[in-house]
Amino acid sequence: MLVHGFPLDHRMWLDQIEPLAEQYRVIVPELRGFGGSTVDSDYTLAELAVDLEQVRIHLSSNQPMHLVGLSMGGYVALEYWAQFRGNLRSLTLANSKPTQDDTAAREGRINMAKVAREQGSWPAVAPMLERLLPPQASGSKVYLRVREMMEQATPEAIAAAQLAMAGRRDFSGQLDSIRVPTLVTTGQLDAIADPEVTRQWATKIPQATFVEFAGSGHLTPMELPEQFYQQLSQFLKQATFVSPSSGQ
Ligand code: MLT
Repeated sequence: MLVHGFPLDHRMWLDQIEPLAEQYRVIVPELRGFGGSTVDSDYTLAELAVDLEQVRIHLSSNQPMHLVGLSMGGYVALEYWAQFRGNLRSLTLANSKPTQDDTAAREGRINMAKVAREQGSWPAVAPMLERLLPPQASGSKVYLRVREMMEQATPEAIAAAQLAMAGRRDFSGQLDSIRVPTLVTTGQLDAIADPEVTRQWATKIPQATFVEFAGSGHLTPMELPEQFYQQLSQFLKQATFVSPSSGQ
């Protein structure tokens, strides 16, 4: 299951779906409100983890899964681990972090939610575009794909996601309890989840595999699709042979 970041949708995984589908059943859910799905009230990231669990049960015949989350998708993946770790074969946290926001970041999110609700989507998310991709990506095909998803995110989806992320839990004290095979990836030029900070917290997860992608910003699966796929599929192959019952 591949879980998208903010303010994107399942299309951020398009380059990964086809090669992965040669060996796996691939599930790419939309988080509430994104990609044309509906959102009718505020929610917590813990509730999004329950959404993922329901999707898993329905679409996998209740099989344990490999869960891959990018950034906000990674925050939800950690919530999933907290609630449903026995159903995980592996966990991949891409361009993400286990920490809570500080006060300034939380205020920024509350403000973004307000701008989205009062002025619409684009004024709210536009300032993020330059931070999602490195400067050299400006105007590229990937840049235009990202921009299109951002423009199509609805004000309600943006506002509810920002408020949920503002209230997220801190998992940094629990990283040493993650026993499921875990892959942590970062981009050398990631302006949102700092690569050096990512390297540090990844060391706290026993036996995590850590990969830094040279030249990548915050959206590695889109920016370097083949390299990301190679690393992910190599990791998944190894993790598939670990018994799910040992993956606690
Ligand atoms: C994301 O890519 O999902 C967002 O940058 C996450 C965030 O705003 O913290």
